[in-house]
Amino acid sequence: MKLGFIGCGGISDAHLRGIFELRMEGRLALEITAVCDIDINRAEAFAAKVREQLQVKPAVYADYREMLAQGNLDAVTVLVTHDLHHTVAEDCFAAGLHVQMQKPLAISPSFGRKMIKDAARYGRVLTVSEPSVLGADNAATARAIRDGAIGPVRLVLDYATSAVGNGFFAGTPWRHMKGIAGAGWINDHGVHRTHAFLEMVGGIHEVFAYTDIYEKVRSAGGITIEPTGEDAAVTVFRFQNGALGHWMCATAVHAEGMGGLYIYGSQGCLRPGHHLALAGGERIPIGELVRKYAPEVPGDPFAHAYLELWEAVAEGKPPISGGVEGQEALCVVFAALESGHTGRPVKIDEIRDGRSRAYEETVIEEMQAQGSSSFQVSDILARCRVVSRYDDVALLDDDPSTALYATGTVADRIRIGIGVDAGRHY
Ligand SMILES: NC(=O)c1ccc[n+]([C@@H]2O[C@H](COP(=O)([O-])OP(=O)(O)OC[C@H]3O[C@@H](n4cnc5c(N)ncnc54)[C@H](O)[C@@H]3O)[C@@H](O)[C@H]2O)c1
Repeated sequence: MKLGFIGCGGISDAHLRGIFELRMEGRLALEITAVCDIDINRAEAFAAKVREQLQVKPAVYADYREMLAQGNLDAVTVLVTHDLHHTVAEDCFAAGLHVQMQKPLAISPSFGRKMIKDAARYGRVLTVSEPSVLGADNAATARAIRDGAIGPVRLVLDYATSAVGNGFFAGTPWRHMKGIAGAGWINDHGVHRTHAFLEMVGGIHEVFAYTDIYEKVRSAGGITIEPTGEDAAVTVFRFQNGALGHWMCATAVHAEGMGGLYIYGSQGCLRPGHHLALAGGERIPIGELVRKYAPEVPGDPFAHAYLELWEAVAEGKPPISGGVEGQEALCVVFAALESGHTGRPVKIDEIRDGRSRAYEETVIEEMQAQGSSSFQVSDILARCRVVSRYDDVALLDDDPSTALYATGTVADRIRIGIGVDAGRHY
């Protein structure tokens, strides 16, 4: 499989390590034949690392559309800011390529819905490189729970704080702006957690959350911003199987961070990445769970992500972390954000089908206000033609399933994927 990288920032090294591991184990000889970053120096530096590890230097591009046109690729991995995920994915599908997206699947659920539809429309595979459910440790944990190793799950407790004070998480200001990241850390990091809850315990029915922005100004390295993404979120939820959850996610933390996931069943506790503890005092280390439940799974989650992309493309095997699973994890995050925004409990169904979107509208407004390159009104209008109008809605494509349309006047308010159902609006 010939693979291209779109974005060569902070996370790209972890991907190269995963690909190297697969090659060393003789499991999959992926070739990275092209890499792209709008910062050409980053692309060149990453290409040099690829050459060092895999012995072949990929072609280097600053414009991913040029790479798609000339790259001779089978698939791409997309490692750019969240506001770009859906447009880059659509361009890649249209170029006939399979897509591995980074988490979160999209900046917000409407764009995730669109991405899943686009993959189906072009008949391409869409996976999400989600390290919280991939890799031997996580696969073994999910399989052990499903096998009843701790009995029926009753409680999920997950706490994560990052003590970045009033600086930037991962050195990236964009992660604190909802028009680029979708929300604060609850989307960037939180979606790892919700994806793990879903894979390990099952579907979530309803959430209630309090969210806030405590640090009104963040600044580091000569850059100062006024964040629009939440830096603290405390959420409770109920799973479809009756279990309860308590989840906390915050970057409004100084001096000392904390964290950990505990899954309690009727007979014990499973701590992903650590061990399983049983009521009688027995403690089973994670390595033993891996030997029993996931001996065939690569240890490195990023290696696993490429293996499952390949298996989905070559054998049609459903991935553990496909677009649908990524979308569900995103919907749980947005249910918490919707709850924090409106002050009421929110069912995941409301977010999944686009019925409740008061919070999401604030994200879309910020995307529009900043003229996000992924959300140019003129860009969308240039791609579409108005085919029908219903009251305040104009459908902008022949195929309603693409769900591109505008509300209000076509020029003043563009939305994607909200409230269109087979040509009707509601
Ligand atoms: N553990 C994980 O799974 C994990 C960890 C970190 C980041 N991520 C995800 O990976 C993605 C990238 O995160 P990051 O930390 O590498 O961010 P980053 O800001 O370090 O890097 C993003 C890169 O994308 C480039 N870029 C921006 N627009 C582009 C375009 N149009 N074409 C080509 N390149 C473009 C930027 O120049 C930059 O080099 C995000 O979706 C993030 O959430 C996942």
